[in-house]
Amino acid sequence: MRNLTMYLAKALTMLTLCSWVAAGSTDCSNLVRYLKPEDANLVFGKWTVVIATADEALHGTVQQLRSSWFEVKPFPDSSVVHFHWRERIGGVCTYGAENATVYKDRTALAIESEQYKGQYLHTCPDCYLTIIKAEINGLSGRYFVFAKRGGSLTDSERQSFEMQAECLGFLPTYFTFPNTSELCPEQEQPVNTR
Ligand SMILES: *[C@@H]1O[C@H](CO)[C@@H](O)[C@H](O)[C@H]1NC(C)=O
Ligand SMILES: *[C@@H]1O[C@H](CO)[C@@H](O)[C@H](O)[C@H]1NC(C)=O
Repeated sequence: MRNLTMYLAKALTMLTLCSWVAAGSTDCSNLVRYLKPEDANLVFGKWTVVIATADEALHGTVQQLRSSWFEVKPFPDSSVVHFHWRERIGGVCTYGAENATVYKDRTALAIESEQYKGQYLHTCPDCYLTIIKAEINGLSGRYFVFAKRGGSLTDSERQSFEMQAECLGFLPTYFTFPNTSELCPEQEQPVNTR
């Protein structure tokens, strides 16, 4: 009897160890690689958000996002970039624009405005992956956003995003999938500027 108990205890320890190794085997250093300042050109252009999540504090805003596209344009000969975005929140299109600074002296690419601080990760070609630190209505937290130039989210892109989110400490609860067929129009109508 005593032997059996010891055997069981050992087997359980082994099992726990094995599943611990399996869970810990996600190679975060490979999944989470920051872009360098000289890679800024990789984030320029027009993008459609296909999956996003947020920290607890900001999850309310990300859950309401029905669709989102944005454009990032550099100003020639300067470290300023222009962002403008169109987001469908509930049934309403919101329009926003702001200028931000590209910090070329950091070890990783950082583009920051007063409200948003963006860091950028290596991702697939023609893809855009960013961690945005934001302070909105007194709430501060991070967004994690994956966007593409076109097309919808593939299964493998979704898997990578979910593993990367886990590496970065986002909870698995708040993933949202904006609808790429419901994008707001370009027109510069400041119906709901923010
Ligand atoms: C961004 O900077 C440009 C050039 O200085 C200016 O014309 C534009 O109004 C600014 N946009 C915003 C949203 O601040
Ligand atoms: C996405 O938007 C299209 C166009 O409005 C709509 O037909 C479709 O049902 C939406 N899909 C989801 C999952 O809501």
